[in-house]
Amino acid sequence: MRVILRDVRDSDLSVFWAQSNEPEGIHMAAFTAKDPSDRAAFDAHWARIRQDPAVVPRTVVGESGEIVGHAAVFGPPEEREVTYWIGRQHWGRGAATAALRELLAVVPERPLHARAAADNGGSIRVLEKCGFVVTGRDRGFANARGEEIEEVLLTLSG
Ligand SMILES: CC(C)(COP(=O)(O)OP(=O)(O)OC[C@H]1O[C@@H](n2cnc3c(N)ncnc32)[C@H](O)[C@@H]1OP(=O)(O)O)[C@@H](O)C(=O)NCCC(=O)NCCS
Repeated sequence: MRVILRDVRDSDLSVFWAQSNEPEGIHMAAFTAKDPSDRAAFDAHWARIRQDPAVVPRTVVGESGEIVGHAAVFGPPEEREVTYWIGRQHWGRGAATAALRELLAVVPERPLHARAAADNGGSIRVLEKCGFVVTGRDRGFANARGEEIEEVLLTLSG
């Protein structure tokens, strides 16, 4: 699947919100907001990251102009991290891989880091296809699971 990345527009947020409330996505991502259906908290989060110069948020757009999801780089220097979310209907067609490749072309900083729930095989695969390598494991409380789970830490060097 071919995608482009562009700046986030106000009108994208309702789509992101709907996508971030899809139960399968929430379970898969695991480390989600406490209450993904809290629209006020969602809006406050997006208002904060869109005005933060340390965050590079991008809307992922498909070939027909549809909003496929979003991708971002965030975090302090030396701990720069990537994140992405693809709407359920677009899974399994290479959208996340294409979006991450594009993001890595837009953001030249290295190293870049990523975290995924250890059972999020799709996300780990996307990261590895884009050159990230597993560098460690951690445990953290996952809101979507209501318990502490294992996380995989990955890094893209040079
Ligand atoms: C994870 C996610 C980004 C994947 O998006 P996608 O567009 O379907 O991903 P792609 O199609 O680019 O690639 C998925 C790859 O993972 C593979 N895959 C899928 N499920 C897998 C699993 N359980 N174990 C291992 N590999 C898996 C696919 O076969 C594909 O690899 P391939 O191209 O070699 O066949 C998407 O499901 C999503 O947004 N989930 C909810 C949010 C989330 O988890 N974000 C990441 C947080 S770390």
